[in-house]
Amino acid sequence: MSTADRPTPPDRRRVGVALLGCGNVGAALVGLLLDRGDALAVQSGAQLELTGIAVADPSRPRPVHVPTELLTGDAAGMVADPSVDVVVELMGGLEPAGTLVRASLDAGKPVVTANKALLASPAGMALRALARERGVDLLYEASVAGAIPLVRALRESLTGERIDRVLGIVNGTTNFILTRMASDGAAYGAALSEAQSLGLAEADPTADVAGHDAAAKAAILAGVAFGYDVAGADVYCEGITGIDPALVAFAGRLGHAVKLLAVVERVTAAGGPPAASDPGELSVRVHPALVPTSHPLASVNGAFNAVFIEGEAAGELMLYGQGAGGLPTASAVLGDLIDATRNLVAGTTAPAPERTPARLHPSAELRSACCLSVEVDDEPGVLASVTAAFGAHGVSIRSMEQHDGPASGRARLVFLTHLARWGALSATIEDLAGLDTVERVGPAVPVLDVPVPEGGPR
Ligand SMILES: NC(=O)c1ccc[n+]([C@@H]2O[C@H](COP(=O)([O-])OP(=O)(O)OC[C@H]3O[C@@H](n4cnc5c(N)ncnc54)[C@H](OP(=O)(O)O)[C@@H]3O)[C@@H](O)[C@H]2O)c1
Repeated sequence: MSTADRPTPPDRRRVGVALLGCGNVGAALVGLLLDRGDALAVQSGAQLELTGIAVADPSRPRPVHVPTELLTGDAAGMVADPSVDVVVELMGGLEPAGTLVRASLDAGKPVVTANKALLASPAGMALRALARERGVDLLYEASVAGAIPLVRALRESLTGERIDRVLGIVNGTTNFILTRMASDGAAYGAALSEAQSLGLAEADPTADVAGHDAAAKAAILAGVAFGYDVAGADVYCEGITGIDPALVAFAGRLGHAVKLLAVVERVTAAGGPPAASDPGELSVRVHPALVPTSHPLASVNGAFNAVFIEGEAAGELMLYGQGAGGLPTASAVLGDLIDATRNLVAGTTAPAPERTPARLHPSAELRSACCLSVEVDDEPGVLASVTAAFGAHGVSIRSMEQHDGPASGRARLVFLTHLARWGALSATIEDLAGLDTVERVGPAVPVLDVPVPEGGPR
């Protein structure tokens, strides 16, 4: 088709924007839209007009200035309104967000969302497929690592790259807690309370500390970086609640930092790196890990996020920044909104390559050296029964430290193993937890890549 034959895109001098949700991120976005109207019109090629803001309770007082005449409780009516061209979904949760996003796409209206829980659900996969089928933009830069321009970098700049592995610190709450445990020797509970008092953790922190938030992001990264559909529920997930300060200190003496990592990597069925021609299996997982201090991720501290990408031709890249918070997240949403508007003005859509279901690598078949802390009764014979549990599953111990426990008559043992199958480590932990003399067993925390020095901590 010659340029002259192409249909002329509709003349769009004004683009109506419906906002679903006006909480931390939504309110910050309203502020940016109101403050930067003229500049945004230049960037996007059309005047962005906020036509309505759907909230659960329109009568609730808002902490920031929001034009009250725009607030409504009728989200579905707003999506259907013909004056709405683009829908920004910042409500969170699966429903009614899922139904509203579907209705928007069905009506040919592009959607911008930060909703990782929805995107990593089976409903989210169906929505992506619907958007692709209909040729309507579904953009979600803010769903992983807040302000960090990650999704677009992977989808566009690195689209020709064969990516072998993505390692991410994608949850600021847990990174803050682990940083405090390392810098001050704080116990997990004390570090969590501090995060809550600073507004970095929810009153119910489960989604963050159990790793579910990071698992949803790992699933989204598996799609964007590797082209595979992976559900958050299929991501192997171990959080940080069982991390003991003695283990963090032990890791420090080994020259490692403990970080909660989202990992997406290609592996062979045997667990090694696949050849260039072999797509391999995909290991998608979230777990604390010992990261060597020489690795750039080890120095990502506090509530910051970073994602380390290993590509075949590009080599190693790291993107770093604020992974959450109303304003940083709204910045990423705004970028997507401008992109969707530019595409509307040009009569085009953002690229949305087809996805295939992933062949997921079973985590039990992974092999790592691991650290493990065990709290025991400080009695003769206990150490022998504990080490026997490792031996029963063929897990060889490289070194061990003993510390006083949190109460008198208790001791904390911290072990470093040689390379072991994760399945054997899980079986060891199960056996240890069943011993009468064992009060508590922490998770097996794998050592990332680089072999730790022989002989244990320095
Ligand atoms: N906060 C962050 O740092 C961050 C970072 C990255 C991604 N995200 C994602 O961004 C999204 C929004 O997060 P947030 O922190 O802004 O959430 P939030 O503060 O809880 O705000 C949610 C908003 O949605 C509205 N809402 C809830 N249920 C509704 C319903 N049934 N109908 C209409 N409106 C409804 C609420 O109305 P009321 O105000 O009336 O209660 C509120 O305005 C989530 O998907 C989240 O995962 C957040």
